[in-house]
Amino acid sequence: MKEELLQRIEDRSAVIGVIGLGYVGLPLAVEFAKAGFHVIGYDVSERVTKLLMAGQSHIQDVPAKEIAALVKSGAFEATTEESRLHEADAISIAVPTPLSKTRDPDMSYVIAAAGAATRQAHPGLLVVLESTTYPGTTREVLLPALTERGLTVGEDVFVAFSPERVDPGNPVYNTKNTPKVVGGITTACTELATALYNSCIDTTVPVSSPEAAELVKLLENTFRSVNIGLVNEMAIVCDKLGVNVWEVIDAAATKPFGFMKFTPGPGIGGHCIPLDPHYLAWKMRTLNYKTRFIDLASEINSQMPAFVVEKVAHALNAQRKPVNGSRILVLGVAYKRDIDDVRESPALDVIRLLEEQGAAVSFHDPFISTVKEDDHTLHGVELTAAVLKEADAVVIVTDHRSVDYQFVMDNAALIVDSRNVMSGLIQTKAQVVTLAASRHADALASGPRLS
Ligand SMILES: NC(=O)c1ccc[n+]([C@@H]2O[C@H](COP(=O)([O-])OP(=O)(O)OC[C@H]3O[C@@H](n4cnc5c(N)ncnc54)[C@H](O)[C@@H]3O)[C@@H](O)[C@H]2O)c1
Repeated sequence: MKEELLQRIEDRSAVIGVIGLGYVGLPLAVEFAKAGFHVIGYDVSERVTKLLMAGQSHIQDVPAKEIAALVKSGAFEATTEESRLHEADAISIAVPTPLSKTRDPDMSYVIAAAGAATRQAHPGLLVVLESTTYPGTTREVLLPALTERGLTVGEDVFVAFSPERVDPGNPVYNTKNTPKVVGGITTACTELATALYNSCIDTTVPVSSPEAAELVKLLENTFRSVNIGLVNEMAIVCDKLGVNVWEVIDAAATKPFGFMKFTPGPGIGGHCIPLDPHYLAWKMRTLNYKTRFIDLASEINSQMPAFVVEKVAHALNAQRKPVNGSRILVLGVAYKRDIDDVRESPALDVIRLLEEQGAAVSFHDPFISTVKEDDHTLHGVELTAAVLKEADAVVIVTDHRSVDYQFVMDNAALIVDSRNVMSGLIQTKAQVVTLAASRHADALASGPRLS
């Protein structure tokens, strides 16, 4: 069966199913279709499948033109009919893996998707889980579902894990040119999954087990979370010392070895970095081990929105203004630059904390028109001179490249810049407060010179 499927992958006669057509599943489905396979995208959302079948795209990095062409040629179709998965020779699962309210893994989507794959399974099927999850999921959740149907892994069903590394908004790295790690339950499973991804992705990196592949993703995202936590703490340290953290980081980054530049900011967001490390922390708790780096980084990163709001309050206070009643314009609400995604965005915390203190908050984001905050919806405003002039403070949370920051400098009175985008611009009468430099003058006057 392995040889037969390898042949079908080789000659592109294999049909590929993708479960979950979001940020991860849709670009992957498109790559499979562009490689010459017939791809059936299955999603529970009728809104998503209808949109795609109408030749539109709900994912910023996937052009509608591309979807329209693939739908028209018949290479790609999107459906809510689970039974269509029965036609697939290989299925990739890319459904959400959020955290529950108690910050434990919410496996309900993976279990539902594994159920769909299992119900539609037939001998000779390859199933690859792509959703970020704790080590052991592929073997403990996906595999039993399939083998309980009487299929034997490595012989008539093949199971692997391959973490998705998509970086939304990245102009250089995309699904195709980002190396893909693959770990199967058996050697045959790894071989087949590697052959599948080799057909449409530039480089694949086989590892010895699904657990290793699951941990690769968690290591990558924990690495980011911990290093962002470290520079965020450095921003707080520099603030207390009256030293400009950006200057320190930029100078440190001139070291050609042994240092990797991370930058501080208002906190972390998105579907990955704030959540994924908790999957590992949860798993290790079940083994009576506490992942201290993960917990500490999470604690520091989640306090950054409050640190930004504190900066706003101090800056307003210096102008004899309370936060209560002040008009505050939040500039950028996406969780990172140049994307339209607000999931877990620190901007939502910044807005909530400011509103809790009585501020009248508005926002501008070139990619996002509305945000839902608890019980109300905020509508974005245009970035005009009048809007900037009316604001008691402008808080830069997301550093989208298309915003004209000199225009902001020219028209705003007070700017709290959590991303250091105002550095290097022509200074006007605007007061610019960064995350960590405000007490520079005081510190130099009263404390020992730092050399
Ligand atoms: N977004 C990213 O940048 C990114 C990067 C790397 C890895 N990941 C991981 O990839 C996985 C998917 O994330 P995403 O951002 O693509 O999620 P998403 O929310 O954008 O998309 C998930 C899609 O799955 C669909 N879905 C949910 N349950 C389903 C089911 N039972 N059957 C069929 N479809 C179902 C949803 O309707 C949705 O369209 C997560 O585990 C995430 O951690 C995400």
